[in-house]
Amino acid sequence: MKLLGKPRSRTAALLPLCLLFLKILQPGHGHLYSNRYAGDKVIRLIPNTEEEAYALKKICHKLKVDLWQPGSIFYVSEGTVTDVRIPHNGSQALLAFLQETNIQYKILIEDLQKALEEGSSLPTQRSRRSLSGYNYEVYHSLKEIQHWMHHLNKTHSGLIHMFSIGNSYEGRSLFVLKLGRRSRAYKRAVWIDCGIHAREWIGPAFCQWFVKEALLTYKSDPTMRKMLTHLYFYIMPVFNVDGYHFSWTNDRFWRKTRSRNSRFRCRGVDANRNWRVKWCEEGASTYPCDDTYCGPFPESEPEVKAVANFLRKHRKHIRAYLSFHAYAQMLLYPYSYKYATIPNFSCVESAAYKAVNALRSVHGVQYRYGPASSTLYVSSGSSMDWAYKNGIPYTFAFELRDTGHFGFLLPEMLIKPTCTETMLAVKNITMHLLKKCP
Ligand SMILES: *[C@@H]1O[C@H](CO)[C@@H](O)[C@H](O)[C@H]1NC(C)=O
Ligand SMILES: *[C@@H]1O[C@H](CO)[C@@H](O)[C@H](O)[C@H]1NC(C)=O
Ligand SMILES: *[C@@H]1O[C@H](CO)[C@@H](O)[C@H](O)[C@H]1NC(C)=O
Ligand SMILES: *[C@@H]1O[C@H](CO)[C@@H](O)[C@H](O)[C@H]1NC(C)=O
Ligand SMILES: [Zn+2]
Repeated sequence: MKLLGKPRSRTAALLPLCLLFLKILQPGHGHLYSNRYAGDKVIRLIPNTEEEAYALKKICHKLKVDLWQPGSIFYVSEGTVTDVRIPHNGSQALLAFLQETNIQYKILIEDLQKALEEGSSLPTQRSRRSLSGYNYEVYHSLKEIQHWMHHLNKTHSGLIHMFSIGNSYEGRSLFVLKLGRRSRAYKRAVWIDCGIHAREWIGPAFCQWFVKEALLTYKSDPTMRKMLTHLYFYIMPVFNVDGYHFSWTNDRFWRKTRSRNSRFRCRGVDANRNWRVKWCEEGASTYPCDDTYCGPFPESEPEVKAVANFLRKHRKHIRAYLSFHAYAQMLLYPYSYKYATIPNFSCVESAAYKAVNALRSVHGVQYRYGPASSTLYVSSGSSMDWAYKNGIPYTFAFELRDTGHFGFLLPEMLIKPTCTETMLAVKNITMHLLKKCP
C-alpha cells in the first residue's frame, strides 16, 4: 500500500512530529508534559448507597477531581461506578476518606505520569514506521493528521476530496474528507466525526483507520465496494482541533474546546453539550470551569456551528450520523436528553444489536448498547440528539475501548484491535442503512 508513497513526503510527515517532541521533552527533566501528572492516581469509586454517593460528590468537588467516566459530578450515584483522576496532593485525603467511610473503591492507575510515559508515547516507538509508509498504529498529532489529509487529497483524488467547513476558535481549519466513488447519480451520505472531546485519542485514530481501510480494500472487499459506490462518507478526523492540539502540547486530559470566557478564567466549552437540543438542561453545566459546561448559548463554539451548518445544509441526503468517543465500550443512540424511546425504535435497535455482535465476533469484546440516557447517562445538547432531531434517522455515538483499565491512555498497541473490531460494526450499520428497514 502506498498511502504516503514517496520517501520525501514521509520525511516531511515526520518533521512536525520531531519538533513536537523537542517541545514536550524540554531540556532538563525529560518528562512528558513537564511531569505534571507525577503522583496523580485514577481511582474507581463505587458508592452503594445514596449517602455514600452524596458524600463522594462533596469530596470530589472539594478536591477538584477530574472526572474521567462519566464526565461530570452530577452523574455520581449509588450503584454506578465513577472513575476519577485525583491530583497528587489530593490523593492522600481521598484515600483516607474512602477508608474511613468504608466506601468501595479500586485504584485503576497508581501513578499517572508513569502510566503515560510507559504507555506508548515514547519517541522511539513513535518514530517506528510501518513498511507501508504511514503508521496507523500510533497516535498522530493534529499537524500530522492534517498533513495526511492533504496527502490523500493529492494522491487519491478519485475517491477523496478534502475541504474545510470553517475555522476553530483559535483559527485552525476544520477539515473534512468526502470519501466515495464519484457519481452523477444522487447518492446518500454518512457523516462520521471523531475527537469532539480532545483527550479521547482513540477517536481520531479510528477515523484515520476507517479511511485507510476504505482505500485499501474497496477493490477487493465487496462490502466496502458497495459502501463507496452507493454512499458518500463525510469524515471529520478531528472535530475539536484546538482542544486536541492542546492535549498534545499542554494537558493530556483536556476535554473541551479552547474558547475564552469573558467573566471566568476557565477556558473551553463541552462541544457535546453545545447543540441546540434541550440546550443546557439536564446533564450539562452552566459553570464555565466544569468539564460539561454547555457554553454561553447554543452553537457558541465555532466548531459546533460549522458542523451544524454543514449538516443542516446536507441533511436531505445524510442518512446516518456517527460520532466516536471513548471510553466505555458502548454503542448509543437517541435520546440522550430524556428517558424515552425514539419513533421507529426497532430499526435503530436492530442495527445496534447486529453491529455490537459483529464487533464482538472479532476479539470477543463486549459492548453494551441502547439509548444513551438509560445506557450511559442523561445529557442535553448532544450532537447525536441534535442530528436526530434534524432529520437524520440513524444517529449513533460509539464509546470505544476500554472500560477503565487504561482509560484515556489506551496504549498504541490496542489501536489495531480496537479499530479492526469497530470497523466491522461501522460496516454493519452502513449495510443496514442500504437496506430498507423492515
Ligand atoms: C493541590 O495543588 C493545587 C495547585 O498546585 C492547588 O490549587 C490545590 O488547592 C491543592 N489541593 C490540595 C487538596 O491541597
Ligand atoms: C483537494 O484537492 C483539490 C484538487 O484536486 C483542490 O481543489 C482542493 O483545494 C484540495 N483541498 C484542500 C483542502 O487543499
Ligand atoms: C418511521 O418509519 C416510517 C416508515 O418507514 C417513515 O415514514 C417515518 O418517517 C419514520 N419516522 C421517523 C421519525 O424516522
Ligand atoms: C452484520 O452482523 C450480523 C451479526 O450480528 C451478521 O449476521 C450480518 O451478516 C452482518 N452484516 C454485514 C453486512 O456485515
Ligand atoms: Zn467523548
